[in-house]
Amino acid sequence: MIYYFSATGNSKHVAERIAEAINTQAQSIETADSVINLQTDEVLGFVTPTNWNQLPVLVREFIRKADIHLTQNNYVFTVATYGAIQGFVCEDARHELKRKGITMNAGFSVKMPDNWTPAFDLSDPQKVQQQVDDAEPQIDEVIELIRKRAQGNHSKNRMPYILHYLTNPLLEHERQTKFFGVDDSLCIGCGLCAKKCPVQAIEMKETAKSENNKLGKRPVWTAERCALCLGCLHRCPKFAINYDNKTQSHGQYLHSKYYKK
Ligand SMILES: Cc1cc2nc3c(=O)[nH]c(=O)nc-3n(C[C@H](O)[C@H](O)[C@H](O)COP(=O)(O)O)c2cc1C
Ligand code: SF4
Ligand code: SF4
Repeated sequence: MIYYFSATGNSKHVAERIAEAINTQAQSIETADSVINLQTDEVLGFVTPTNWNQLPVLVREFIRKADIHLTQNNYVFTVATYGAIQGFVCEDARHELKRKGITMNAGFSVKMPDNWTPAFDLSDPQKVQQQVDDAEPQIDEVIELIRKRAQGNHSKNRMPYILHYLTNPLLEHERQTKFFGVDDSLCIGCGLCAKKCPVQAIEMKETAKSENNKLGKRPVWTAERCALCLGCLHRCPKFAINYDNKTQSHGQYLHSKYYKK
């Protein structure tokens, strides 16, 4: 079984490609059972985005709460999808699994479009498609290594794990929902952002009805912190959500395999 979290489709795509190639299932952690019983020879994989060089909070929580039962000859791996620097995601996952008495056999990475659009510009569809295409041979390589049951950390663009002392507080800071903004001239009050948020950080509240917003609803971030997946920003049909006013000119991103515009 391969477990994944994916806000914009990259990790879902990688998980599904690997699952198909090695004849297993890909399962979103958002709907997964936390009891994991492996059969003899079965593979246990985690495919995850990189968040500030480390595991996203939701993936860390899933691993921590999972009740994992290995049997014989299991093979455990993590694949980090990333846009610029993978950092120490695989090492992070290895530490989390070790705390549960589970040895992670291997770590891998796949470079893909960087959905952290406060910093990265994904407004050029051709460049983005090139990055999506460039990921395919990397995924093939990871599949080959998994088939061979390769051992060790094969992930690229790594940073020393010790740096998590620096990046943890950064992620905590950036996770504050006060950084999200909504352009009321664009928002149609559809509620998709609230419905899809994996941690229910958004509530739809009443607002004045207008020609544009006939439903008279508006998203409000009611939780102080969220998982910072940026799914709300990238999936909004009107691109009405921004992060810290830094994202409006950087485009929205959803992996082309899953989301057609
Ligand atoms: C909050 C946040 C932090 C991120 N931090 C990093 C990072 O440190 N290094 C990196 O290379 N990519 C980073 N990214 C980019 C994502 O890891 C990358 O685009 C990933 O493939 C997205 O996966 P998904 O489409 O499955 O959600 C970050 C993205 C977000 C939303
Ligand atoms: S998804 Fe976009 S348009 Fe719909 S309610 Fe949320 S911000 Fe408004
Ligand atoms: S508020 Fe947006 S960025 Fe935060 S967890 Fe929910 S969908 Fe993800």
